Amino acid sequence: SNTPAVHGDLAGRRVVVSAGGTREPLDPVRFLGNRSSGKQGIAIAEAARARGAQVTLVAANLEVAEPAGCDIRRVSTALELQAAVTEASRGADVVVMAAAVADYRPATVSEAKIKKDQSDDGLTLELVRNPDILAGLGHGPHDGTLLVGFAAETEPDDERILELGRAKREAKRADLLVVNRVGWTEGFAADENSAVVIGVDGEIVTRLHGSKVSVADGILDVVVSKLN
Ligand code: CTP
Ligand code: CA
Repeated sequence: SNTPAVHGDLAGRRVVVSAGGTREPLDPVRFLGNRSSGKQGIAIAEAARARGAQVTLVAANLEVAEPAGCDIRRVSTALELQAAVTEASRGADVVVMAAAVADYRPATVSEAKIKKDQSDDGLTLELVRNPDILAGLGHGPHDGTLLVGFAAETEPDDERILELGRAKREAKRADLLVVNRVGWTEGFAADENSAVVIGVDGEIVTRLHGSKVSVADGILDVVVSKLN
């Protein structure tokens, strides 16, 4: 691979990364999902591995190949992702929540395939809130674990995106929040990414753009500086 020279600056560190997008089942053959490919999260897991970390990747429905050298926990729903991340995060040095987690799930999962009703011309789904996994970690005891969140925003205005990011970081008590713009064409499946990393005082720690691999290394540069 074309991984940059191994720095070893995460040697002896345990890093947990969630990647991909959750799927919330409606019935045996259908789900509510999102367009996250898992690329950015996988790039972070691979980069952390290359820098010497012991990496646990909590993988939700990845659309790309799993990275080598990581302990992989496959999950599908938000609740499964929460259980896996919560367990893996105990005693971890870093948790990176790159996964796109469904904010809601169907209130009930039908045992049988949902059939069309001839008398209806529509269907209303009842959804319930999923727990906020990152906020749960941030508000709970997480002694010495650096929490890194992501925020995907569709707002066109850069300043507005920063404002949303600052509010999100604070609400979740993350140590760092990586904010990027997503849309029909940006983010998700793309190989390139642009992001701003926000710190605990709402300051811009760094601005990153380039391949998802170089953005991953830029995020880890900040992580390393915060760990030391
Ligand atoms: N996240 C999480 N649990 C959820 C939803 C989101 O841990 N139930 C995490 C994501 O993995 C990400 C961060 O929170 O690291 C921000 O996710 P995002 O969807 O941008 O923010 P939300 O708080 O869900 O707000 P909204 O979708 O309303 O903008
Ligand atoms: Ca959300």
